[in-house]
Amino acid sequence: MVTLSPAISPQITRIDSEVVIDVKALKLEKSSWFDSLLKTLIINPVLNFIFGPSVVGFFKKVTRNQILANLHGPGSWQSMLAHYDAAPKSMFDFMIDRYIAFPSALRNRQKLVVSALTQLIEAYGKNEPVNLLAIGCGSANNILKAIKLEKSKLHGLKAQLFDFNEDALIEGRSKARELGLEKDVDFVCSDANHVEEKVAAPPQIVKMIGLIEYLSDENVIRLFQSIKKFRSPASSILISSIEPRHGIERFLRRTLNFNLNYRSPEKLKQLLSGIGYTKFNTFSEPTGIFNVIVGHV
Ligand SMILES: C[S@@+](CC[C@H](N)C(=O)[O-])C[C@H]1O[C@@H](n2cnc3c(N)ncnc32)[C@H](O)[C@@H]1O
Repeated sequence: MVTLSPAISPQITRIDSEVVIDVKALKLEKSSWFDSLLKTLIINPVLNFIFGPSVVGFFKKVTRNQILANLHGPGSWQSMLAHYDAAPKSMFDFMIDRYIAFPSALRNRQKLVVSALTQLIEAYGKNEPVNLLAIGCGSANNILKAIKLEKSKLHGLKAQLFDFNEDALIEGRSKARELGLEKDVDFVCSDANHVEEKVAAPPQIVKMIGLIEYLSDENVIRLFQSIKKFRSPASSILISSIEPRHGIERFLRRTLNFNLNYRSPEKLKQLLSGIGYTKFNTFSEPTGIFNVIVGHV
């Protein structure tokens, strides 16, 4: 539940008081102490120092594992869907799910994002139409879920969803049609760095999940500066970061070509403070890998 005292001006619902986004009811997945020990002592060193691209290629060929099959490069939208929906069908799937990839951390992040986004849409939508903007939206799974949950309570909602991968947008448009949301969302093919020129209306909610870990500090700051120019004067931003708690940094870099930028919640809040966000909700999921930060201005 979001606790707000909205002071209404003609166009703006301003969040004046403490903002509480309540995620206590969410059931998030945790690692057992046994699994953590096994990963630290055996699995992570094997992945980091023995597994190479050819071993991954071999397992990709001989198994039908969805996570391996959908490794289309760092942070691909197909990979996200495979992680979100990972339902182990074999012993190998089970091993990948539990010990090698980190789908539980991604599912935790997904739950946090859908919940926070739903609460923000509801809060901003109490008195006025909501403009939502997402950058690096992928197939917009989580956004569409949140909009579907809230739509009937709103005075109207328009979402502009940006990604530089046209295939992700085709998948997103099809999902939106399936959910009857095609009139509410506009999928736009664009690099994050060129969104500013294409914004239709100042958004009260900006969502950028699973994106900035692939961007340098310099690019993140440039992107934040651009968001400052087009966001609504009273608005919120949802971003996420990754931390090296997965323990397989060397494997991700050397074998899968993932060059991730790790940032703590403190670092993110400091960057967001630099563009005027003053209040924050910080959520770190139980595996310690992902953080979700919601900033308000
Ligand atoms: C890890 S996925 C996250 C997708 C979605 N936000 C989610 O939470 O499931 C990252 C997405 O960002 C997109 N992306 C990466 N770099 C981008 C850039 N510079 N401009 C626009 N989109 C980008 C990718 O195509 C991909 O769909």
